[in-house]
Formats: sequence, structure tokens, C-alpha cells
Amino acid sequence: MNALRIRGGRRLDGEWNIHSAKNAVLPIMAAAILTQDKTTLERCPNLSDIRYMGDILETLGCRVKRSGDVMEIDPAGLCRYEMPDQLSKKIRSSIFLLGPILSRFRKAAVTFPGGCEIGLRPIDLHLSGLRQLGVDVREEGGLILCDGQGMRAGNVHFDYPSVGATENVMMAAVLLRGRTTLHNAAREPEIADLQSFLCRMGARVSGAGTHTIAIEGVNRLHGVHYQPMADRIVAGTLMAAAAATGGTAHLTNVPCGDLCAVFSKLREMGCVITEKENEAILHAPARLNAFHQLQTQPHPGFPTDMQVQMLALAASAKGTSVIVENVFENRFTHAGDLNRMGADVLVNGRTAVVKGVPKLCGARVTARDLRGGAALAIAALGAEGETIIEHAQLIDRGYDHLEDMLCALGADAVRMEMNTQ
Ligand code: EPZ
Repeated sequence: MNALRIRGGRRLDGEWNIHSAKNAVLPIMAAAILTQDKTTLERCPNLSDIRYMGDILETLGCRVKRSGDVMEIDPAGLCRYEMPDQLSKKIRSSIFLLGPILSRFRKAAVTFPGGCEIGLRPIDLHLSGLRQLGVDVREEGGLILCDGQGMRAGNVHFDYPSVGATENVMMAAVLLRGRTTLHNAAREPEIADLQSFLCRMGARVSGAGTHTIAIEGVNRLHGVHYQPMADRIVAGTLMAAAAATGGTAHLTNVPCGDLCAVFSKLREMGCVITEKENEAILHAPARLNAFHQLQTQPHPGFPTDMQVQMLALAASAKGTSVIVENVFENRFTHAGDLNRMGADVLVNGRTAVVKGVPKLCGARVTARDLRGGAALAIAALGAEGETIIEHAQLIDRGYDHLEDMLCALGADAVRMEMNTQ
């Protein structure tokens, strides 16, 4: 079994350059099939979710080549509108292909993407958005069958600002003659990056980053050479790693403007953060202060993908912190593992009360999702003794060799295969 071993107690002090964002690369890979031309993406991390998306594109007839961190997608051979069942279940973001496939074929057949550890992950908002564009959507035996012959530009309103649903409908509308307006759209930075990519392809999209996105349909799009935005969650995670050890981190290629809520919370805990254009330097105190309360919200609120990392920091901070997880219904799955390390976390529904203890102790724990696995690594860095994080492969879904990043910052982190007993 794949494990990450961390020996705590070392003060981190180092530098790292942040790779492109998983949550920008995945929808952009889907958007790449909106043209017959080749697209080249730079600084792409080698993550399992990105590999799976590439496998799905190849099953549909595209060619995906990687050379280092450069990925080339050639959609000329795109010939299938049915998504492969097993692969689609492996990653939730396969649902992002629904909009682009409908744009190209005016029909699509996809499998219900599985839920995951953090929640049921329904897709009703995706399907509602497509229905508002005139797509006939039928659900039969776990399959979603879409007929897009009646698709037309128009108004789409989201009951909740869903990131994926916003991206899906954007990609379904860019080749629809006329004006489509998305209302109550999500405002995450990755949506602005998708807009930037689509516009580089020749699409006419504006308003991303606000709740209203306007799209003027065009006849065709062309391939581009593009570098997706840097990963704000990886940057936040590494800053939290340094903060857990009273250390310093100097990060480059950081989208500082997209991390205001995270920087504010780290500063509230006593960290000094210096921001330059796309660099951030964090200096942490020997022991962090508790934050009064942290509520996760859609952007620009505090990002849910950084919640469990902050919970790990609160576990050994001075005082009591309260966390309310408003976005996903089950994102405290690591509280038990942190308590095994000596933390004092009480979970009640969507609220966690964390009473800071002076020090955590290393233990054998289990990663249950990609951000939770990273949070256990953060806790281990500040703990006394050795921690073994089992099922560490889950961390690879969102971090391209987290152990290399941590070692570059000065940690004692080693990836290893362990026997199961
Ligand atoms: C994206 O997921 C990200 N994934 C998530 O990152 C991130 O946590 C999330 O946005 C919120 O920022 C990718 O971009 C690949 P949502 P997505 O639709 O699009 C509910 C990570 O760790 N909902 O904004 O699935 C949903 O259940 C991952 O990198 C519906 O009810 O997020 C959740 O409670 C985790 N119906 C809330 O909305 C729908 O049709 C937010 O989901 C869709 C969503």
C-alpha cells in the first residue's frame, strides 16, 4: 500500500514554484475538443485526475501527448459522443465534457459521475443549465442521454453558483448562434481562466469572475498554445505546511489576488505574509493563534478546498477555532485521524470546534480524499515523531509529488510502499 512517511519537528524554510491548477486544466482539457485544431497546454502537473481526463479524451478519439509538463491535445479524430462508463466514474470532472460534446455532436451520452468522500456530488445544476439551453435530457439506468437538436442561445439561471455547472454551460454555449447569459454564475478564478482560454480560441465570452457571464456564439474555434493559471490551493497548502512548523515559505508563480481569504486567515493566526506580483513569502510564529471562526463560501469567500488544511493548523494553535463547512456536506472526514494524533476536534454536522493542543503526536493515519491527505501531511509536519499516511495515492489526484514540494521546503517526507498489515 502506498504511504507517505513524515518525521515532524523540522522548521520549514524553502522555495517552490507553483504548477498550473488542476481545477483550471481539467475544464480546459474538455474545452479543447470544441475545435478540430490542436491545443498545447504548458506547466501541466502530472496528476492522476489529469491522466484520467486524457484517457477519456483518447477514448472519444482524440490524441493526447505529454512531454514533461507540456500537454498536446489533438481532437481531429474525435468521433464518439458516448462517454466511457468506467473512466467517467473515476473522476467527477468527466461531467465537464457534456457541454463540449453537445457543442460538437448535438447529442451526448454520459454516466452519472460517482459521488466521493466529500459528498454526493449531484449534477442537477449541470442538467438544469443545459435544459435551459433547450437540451432534452433523459436519465435511463444510470445513463444521461442528451438530445441537443433543439439547443438555442438564451438565459440560464443557476439556483446555486456551481463551478462545474457554470463551466459546462459556458462550453455548451460558445458555438450557439446568438447571445447566452448565465445568471448567478460561480465566480471562482478557474472560471475566468476558462473564459480566457475560450477567448484565445476565438470565442466571445465576458463577465467571468462576476455572477453574470455573457456569451456571443461564434461559428468555429481554433487551437491555441496556453498556460493555465497557477494552482491557488497548492500554494495555500504549502503556506499552511510552513505555518505548521513556525517556518518560512517563499512561493513563486502564486495567484496572490485569488488567495485573499486564505492570506487573511493565516494572518489572523499570526503569520506575516509579504505579497509581490506573483510571489508570496510567509513567516510563521513559533506557535499559531486560533482563528475565531472560518466559514467556507463560494469565491471570493474562503475556499472549501483549503478548509481541512486550516483545521489541521487549528489543531495545535493557541485557543479554540470554529469551522463551518457550507459548500460540501461531508468534509470533516479527517477529524478522526487528527484526533488520533492528539487533536481535540468535535464535529457536529457542518460545524467543527477545534480546541488547540500544544503539540500533536505522530501516528498511523489514512488519507480519505486529496485535500484531507494533504492536511494530514500538514499536521504531521508540526507533530512530534513519525506519521505514516496510508492511501497516499489519493493525494496525487491534486498534488504532483507533494513529498518533493515538502522536501524542497526542508521537510523529512518520504513516499514508500508498505505491507498492508
Ligand atoms: C469544483 O467542484 C472543484 N473541482 C472542487 O475541487 C471545488 O471544491 C468545488 O468546485 C467548489 O469550489 C473541480 O473544479 C474539478 P460545485 P464542483 O459544483 O464543480 C453542489 C478539489 O479538491 N452541487 O461548485 O463539483 C455540490 O454537491 C475539488 O480540487 C449540486 O448540488 O463544485 C456542492 O455541495 C473538490 N448540484 C456544491 O454544489 C450540482 O449540479 C458546490 O459544488 C453541482 C453541485
